[in-house]
Amino acid sequence: MPTIGDLTIRPVDPWDEHEMDVLQDLYVEAQRAEVPDSRVYSRADSVALLRRTGGPTSYHAFAALAGDTMVGQVWTVAGTTDNVHRGRLWAWVPPRHGRRGVGTALVRHGEQHLIDLGRRTALTQTWIGADGVSGYRPFAERLGYSLAQTHVERRQQLPMDEARLARLEAEATAHTAAYTFHVVVGPIPAELAPGYLGVYNLLDIESPGGDVEHEEGRWTAAELADQDEELSEQGRTRVTVLASDATGVVVAYSCAVTGPADLDDPVVDQRGTLVLREHRGHRLGLAVKCRLTRALQERFPDRTYVRTTNAETNAPMVAINEAMGFEVHSVEGEFQHRLG
Ligand SMILES: CC(C)(COP(=O)(O)OP(=O)(O)OC[C@H]1O[C@@H](n2cnc3c(N)ncnc32)[C@H](O)[C@@H]1OP(=O)(O)O)[C@@H](O)C(=O)NCCC(=O)NCCS
Repeated sequence: MPTIGDLTIRPVDPWDEHEMDVLQDLYVEAQRAEVPDSRVYSRADSVALLRRTGGPTSYHAFAALAGDTMVGQVWTVAGTTDNVHRGRLWAWVPPRHGRRGVGTALVRHGEQHLIDLGRRTALTQTWIGADGVSGYRPFAERLGYSLAQTHVERRQQLPMDEARLARLEAEATAHTAAYTFHVVVGPIPAELAPGYLGVYNLLDIESPGGDVEHEEGRWTAAELADQDEELSEQGRTRVTVLASDATGVVVAYSCAVTGPADLDDPVVDQRGTLVLREHRGHRLGLAVKCRLTRALQERFPDRTYVRTTNAETNAPMVAINEAMGFEVHSVEGEFQHRLG
């Protein structure tokens, strides 16, 4: 393969406004090269993530330069309170600089950074085409990564068809009379934080993990407050629905965040949804998702779609999403590689 001779890789300076402009443009160009309406994070997202220090997740970005020209970037994302055995990395090289070894050099640089952070597993996620074997899968596999799980991104148009939403709400209500629901727009208030964390910390171990090793989350109110501050810096709003049982214990939740203000994309990102095992089978998952949809379309009428990504094996969650009108958009592979 022809290589770029004078390639240097160095940390990105998140306080350099021009550098952040270039970084963002290059990222969007690479991310949307094959999937033109692929999800992207905004410049405000990147600025907030890279300038923050001391939160529950550490973000680092490195730029690849050929002479003075930025030709690619790699990000590392590593939790600091739990799952510290692993880290994620993401490399982006737009096609006009592609196939000259930049992506490979960036991934290896990111891996070394994860090793320096004490991580033993690197995870990455990328588009693998509808057939599951195309997209960037050959790139990941050539670098020694193996497919750990397949994820399917689905999108739901907002507002939802009213008759359909009303029918699903009625179905859920018929089974969930014993539960109380709270809808929170914005940061999770202190009195609901312990309940929220009780379900949120289980998400990684309760949703299908494929071949990826997950441990229970260990977030406390401090990490949650940090994340809410980060969301506000990104210009995002969290919308959360909690369900508690007759004793007041939170037993289910669903959470989404609006896209950031500087992103010209009327999107809402679905985050987690979880029902405690002993409360499954009461349509609680459907109930929290219906309330979430209602809240989103009432409070954010300018948002035209929600996107969600589920493990393809997550039959119960996929069934709820399909009932709610989510349709397949694209297929991504989660890959892992043992470091060192
Ligand atoms: C994937 C990506 C980072 C590759 O960057 P790159 O600089 O072109 O990668 P390299 O030149 O180091 O490629 C190394 C090898 O990977 C394979 N490869 C890379 N891109 C490929 C593609 N689109 N299709 C098939 N194989 C590919 C090839 O075997 C290539 O060697 P070759 O050019 O000699 O055939 C870039 O295409 C990109 O930014 N994609 C969008 C973001 C993404 O999905 N990143 C991967 C997750 S971290």
